[in-house]
Amino acid sequence: MSAAIPELRQFDEAELDRVFARLEADAAAQARMLTGGESLEAFRLQWLGRKQGLLGQLSAAWLKSAPTEAKPSLGVRFNRLKAQIESLLEESRQQDQAGSQASGLDVTLPGAAPRVGAEHPLVKTMAEIVGVFQRMGYSVGLGPEVETDFYNFEALNFPPNHPARDTQDTLVIAGQERKPLRERLLMRTHTSPVQIRSMLEQAPPLRLVIPGKVHRNDAADATHSPVFHQVEGLCVDTQITFSDLKGTLDHAMKALFGSAVKTRFFPSFFPFTEPSADVQISCIFCGGKGCRKCKHSGWIELLGCGMVDPAVFEAVNQRRSELGREPVYDTRKISGFAFGMGVDRIAMMKYGIGDIGLLYSGDLRFLEQFA
Ligand code: DAH
Repeated sequence: MSAAIPELRQFDEAELDRVFARLEADAAAQARMLTGGESLEAFRLQWLGRKQGLLGQLSAAWLKSAPTEAKPSLGVRFNRLKAQIESLLEESRQQDQAGSQASGLDVTLPGAAPRVGAEHPLVKTMAEIVGVFQRMGYSVGLGPEVETDFYNFEALNFPPNHPARDTQDTLVIAGQERKPLRERLLMRTHTSPVQIRSMLEQAPPLRLVIPGKVHRNDAADATHSPVFHQVEGLCVDTQITFSDLKGTLDHAMKALFGSAVKTRFFPSFFPFTEPSADVQISCIFCGGKGCRKCKHSGWIELLGCGMVDPAVFEAVNQRRSELGREPVYDTRKISGFAFGMGVDRIAMMKYGIGDIGLLYSGDLRFLEQFA
C-alpha cells in the first residue's frame, strides 16, 4: 500500500486545490481497502508517521520551497488533510470493531464445551488435611520454597555441621560461597522454616497449619521422590501441654481416616522439638490385625511431632530483637507443640497408589481417575 507523491508545479490556489484533492482522494481510497488491525496501523504510519509519514515529508519539502505569501494557505491545507486522514482512521477502526463483535455473536455456531479439570490427588489430600485443622480454629500459613540456611536449619536448632543436617540433604543454589552460611539459599527440606517465619511476624497465641512443597536429595523409588509435600502444624499459647498435642493429633487422624482409627506415640528425635515423638495409626487396611501393608505390625507410622524446643523460641526472640520487634516468646510463660506430616504418603494410602512417581508423572490416564 503506497500513495503516489503528487507533483506540485506551482503555488497558486488552483494548483494547490488540485493537488490536495488528489491526496485526499488517495487517502480515502486506501481507507476503504483497510482490513483491520495491522493494515490500520500501516495506513496511519504511511500518512501520519513521525519519521516516514507522507504528510511530514510533503509539508517539509513544500513549505521550504513555497514563496512566503503561499505558506499560510499551504499550512491550512496540511492541517485540514491531517484532520481528514484522522477521521478516516477513526471510522475504519470503528467498522473493524463492529465487524469482529458481530462475528463473535454468531448464535448459530455450536457452543465450545469447557474442559473441566480435576483436582490433583495431592492438592485434594492437602486441602482435606488443612480443612481438619481449620475446623479446630487453625489458620493457614505459607512460606517460600527457596529458603535460607537460617530458616531451614539454624533457627530450628540444627547448628552448622550438626549431623542432624545429614538427614535432610538438599539442593543448594549455586554461587553463594561468599555469603555467610545463614544467608545461603537452598530448596527447603521441610515446611518447618515457616514456623520461624510465622513467629517473627505474629505474637502468641498462634495456631497455624502450613501446607507446601519440599525438596530432598533422595533417589526416586516407589516410596521416595526428591520433591514431595508436607503439612506442618504449630500451636503456641500459655499452658500448652503434650496432652493437647496428643488430643489434637488423635482427633485429626480420626477425622482423616475414620473414627475407628487409634493412635500411639513413640519417642523420637527432632532438633526443634523436645520431647519429640513419632505418631503411628492403627493400620487402616487390616484394622490392626496385621497385613502386608503394615508389615504385619498392625501400625503405620505417619508423622513427627513434639513440644517446641526452648532453643527455637530463643532463636525467634533473638531475631525479633534484631528486627526491632519485641521478644515476646517468653519461655517461662508460653509453650507450644508442632507436628509435620507427609502428604504424599497419606494420599497414597487413601487412594491405594502404589508408586509415588505417579503423583508427579502428569500422566492423564492416572489423573483422570480422580475426576
Ligand atoms: N520437619 C520434620 C521433617 O521433615 C517433620 C516434623 C517433625 C515437623 C516434628 C514438626 C515436628 O513440626 O514437630 O522430617
